[in-house]
Amino acid sequence: MKFFLDTANIAEIEEGVSWGCVDGVTTNPTLISKELTGNTDFKKHVRKILSLVNGPVSLEVTATSAKEMVEEGKRLKKLGDNVVVKIPATVDGLKALKVLRELKIDTNATLVFSVNQALMVSKAGANYVSPFVGRLDDISEDGMSLVEDIREVYDNFGLETKIIVASIRHPVHVKDAALIGADIATMPFDVFRKLMNHPKTDEGLKRFLDDWHKIDKSKLMF
Ligand code: G3P
Repeated sequence: MKFFLDTANIAEIEEGVSWGCVDGVTTNPTLISKELTGNTDFKKHVRKILSLVNGPVSLEVTATSAKEMVEEGKRLKKLGDNVVVKIPATVDGLKALKVLRELKIDTNATLVFSVNQALMVSKAGANYVSPFVGRLDDISEDGMSLVEDIREVYDNFGLETKIIVASIRHPVHVKDAALIGADIATMPFDVFRKLMNHPKTDEGLKRFLDDWHKIDKSKLMF
């Protein structure tokens, strides 16, 4: 299973990459807008992210018509080889996915909330699909059961679109995504950091070191 960071923050990406567990990054207009304050250069910021990550980086279009999405997607792709163009799951989005596939530009269909949307974007040629689990949980639906259903349907028909579990809010979402067999979990840095937390690890390490410091080190052979 692959782990992506869902952030446009350079420090978070640098830190995550240094842990050796980051396979890619996803962004969206909200995440990018948080980082672009004052006179930040968008292209420079994005190129920095692309250089830090040895894997796909999703950049989302802000256009809403198919024609403009394709043009924006082509411009985004020029920023780096590892750019994946994120396209919203609308009818215009389907048309843009089809054209971008013909242009051999990788795509990630975003804002997916139903199995039927997931089927449609896969048929239109999306390389990745992003079901938003947290936002479904927010409205008292079961986000992870959508992931389960998409996995089953894609497997039924041998569809190769990779499932990115998105809108992850906590570590249990990551564990559940892995158990279901989702290809990728994309998560905020805060969730990524929590994946390694365990009080018994901290407690055990403290006890080992406390015991170690009790002994007379002069009797050790090394
Ligand atoms: O990047 C898309 C998705 O992960 C956004 O998550 O927390 O804004 O619902 P959230």
